Amino acid sequence: MTASRRGMSIRERVVACTLAAIVAVGPVAAQPPVRDFTQDSPAQKDARMAWWRQARFGMFVHFGAYAVPAGTYHGQRVGGGEWIMNNSHIPITEYEQFTRSFNPVRYDADAWARTAKDAGMKYIIITSKHHDGFGMFNSKVSGYDIVHASPFHRDVIKALSEAAHRQGLKFGVYYSIMDWHHPDAQGAAAPNYNSSTVSNPNFGRYVETYMKPQLKELVSQYPYIDVLWFDGEWIADWNNERGRDLYNYVRSLKPGLIVNNRVSNGRNGSMSGVDTQGRIGLGDFGTPEQEVPAKGLPGVDWETCMTVNENWGFQSFDDDWKSPRQLLRTLIDIAAKGGNLLLNVGPNGAGEIPVESVSRLHEMGEWMRVNGESIYATTASPYGEPPWGRYTAKPGYVYAHVFDWPKELAIPLTGMTAKPRAAYMLADHLPVRIEETDAGFVATLPKRAPSSIASVLVLDMGRGRR
Ligand code: GLC
Repeated sequence: MTASRRGMSIRERVVACTLAAIVAVGPVAAQPPVRDFTQDSPAQKDARMAWWRQARFGMFVHFGAYAVPAGTYHGQRVGGGEWIMNNSHIPITEYEQFTRSFNPVRYDADAWARTAKDAGMKYIIITSKHHDGFGMFNSKVSGYDIVHASPFHRDVIKALSEAAHRQGLKFGVYYSIMDWHHPDAQGAAAPNYNSSTVSNPNFGRYVETYMKPQLKELVSQYPYIDVLWFDGEWIADWNNERGRDLYNYVRSLKPGLIVNNRVSNGRNGSMSGVDTQGRIGLGDFGTPEQEVPAKGLPGVDWETCMTVNENWGFQSFDDDWKSPRQLLRTLIDIAAKGGNLLLNVGPNGAGEIPVESVSRLHEMGEWMRVNGESIYATTASPYGEPPWGRYTAKPGYVYAHVFDWPKELAIPLTGMTAKPRAAYMLADHLPVRIEETDAGFVATLPKRAPSSIASVLVLDMGRGRR
C-alpha cells in the first residue's frame, strides 16, 4: 500500500486498488482460455474427482466480520448471521466498523484442523470472502481484508490451508461472486444489497479487475487449494457465459481444482442445488443446501452443505443445535444416496469454534473411528432404502446401517438378491447369521446394539458377486 493511500477510507482504497489493477492487470478477458475445461472427458473428471468422491465428509467454515455483531445490531437481536449487513440494511461505512474491530486473537488454525480430522472429516472449505466482501486473506488487489483492514493482520486462509495440509486434509475456499462492498458489484438499491434484478453497469470491471485477480491470489498464494466453492451467483449480473469463463479461468490457473456448480446458474438459485431435472449445469458437483435429495442424484456428484445450528455465520443466541444422532444419521443418509456432507461451523469473533459444535463433531468422530469403513469411498445403496436404516456399498461389500435395533433381533435384508458369503458387525467383527426365507434373506443380530445411533452390519458379497 503506497503512502498516498493512507488516510483514505477503505472504500476509497478499494476503488484506488481497482484502478491500479486495471492498469497493472490489463483486460484479462481479452485472452481466451487455451482449453475449454468444461469439455473434460469422463475419465479426466474421474481422475480429478477421485479424492473428493472417497472423502464423503468435510467441514465448512463460515468465518468473517459478521462474527463481531453476531446477530445483534444497535442492541437488538436482529439475527441474520452472515447476512446481517443486508438484512439490517447496514450502511457500508458502518459495517466497516465491524471489520476494524474484528480481532480473532484466539484463532488457532491447527486446533480447527485437528477438530475436523478428529471428526473424521477429510477436507475443509472456508469462506475467503463472503457476500459482505471482506477478505479473510492477504489481498493486494483489495485492501479490504483481514490483513490490511483489521487489527488482527494475520492471513486466516494461509494458516488454515497449511494446518489442513499438516493434518492430511484437502482444503478449499468459498468465494462469493456477489459483493455488497465493492462499488462495481453492489446493486443500486444498497443498503438493500441482495438483488436478483438490479444490475451494476460496471460489473464486468469488478469481474476482471477484482474478482479474478483475487481468485488468482488465492490459487497462487497458497499451495494447498483443492476446491473453489462459489456462491452468490443468483444476482442479475451473473449468467452462464460468465460462469463458463470463470470456470475455465480458475481451472487454467490450476487444472486439478474441483469447482462447485454455483460458479454458474445451473441450480437456478434453488436450495436443491440442481435444476428441476436433477442436472448440475456447469461445474463439478451439485450443491443442495440444508437438504438431502430424497432419492440422491443418480449420475452426478453432489454435496449437501448443512449447519449444525441455524446459522452459517456465528450468532451468539442461536441455540438450535442438531443432536449428534441427527447429524450422524444425516451423514449416513447422504452416503447411502451417493453424496458428500459438508457440515458447517461458525467460529465466534474471538476465533473459536463454539464448544457445542466441537463436542458434536467429536462424537461423530468416535462413531467414524469404528465405522468409517462404511462411509469413506462407498457408493449409493444398491438396494434402495430399507425400513430399518440405510445401505452403503463398496466393491464386494454392502454395509447395513441399522438405526433402530429391532426387539426381535432380526432384520430382512430388503432388496438383496444374492446370499452374502459372510456377515459380521463392524464394531467387533462378531459373525452374524444370515438365513434364506420365503421372504428373502434375514440377518439375526446380536442382543446388544453396538451403537445407539447406527450399528453397521457388514455383508461380504464376495468379489464380483454384487
Ligand atoms: C447461502 C447463503 C450463504 C451461505 C451459503 C452456504 O447461499 O447466502 O450465507 O454461505 O448459502 O451454502
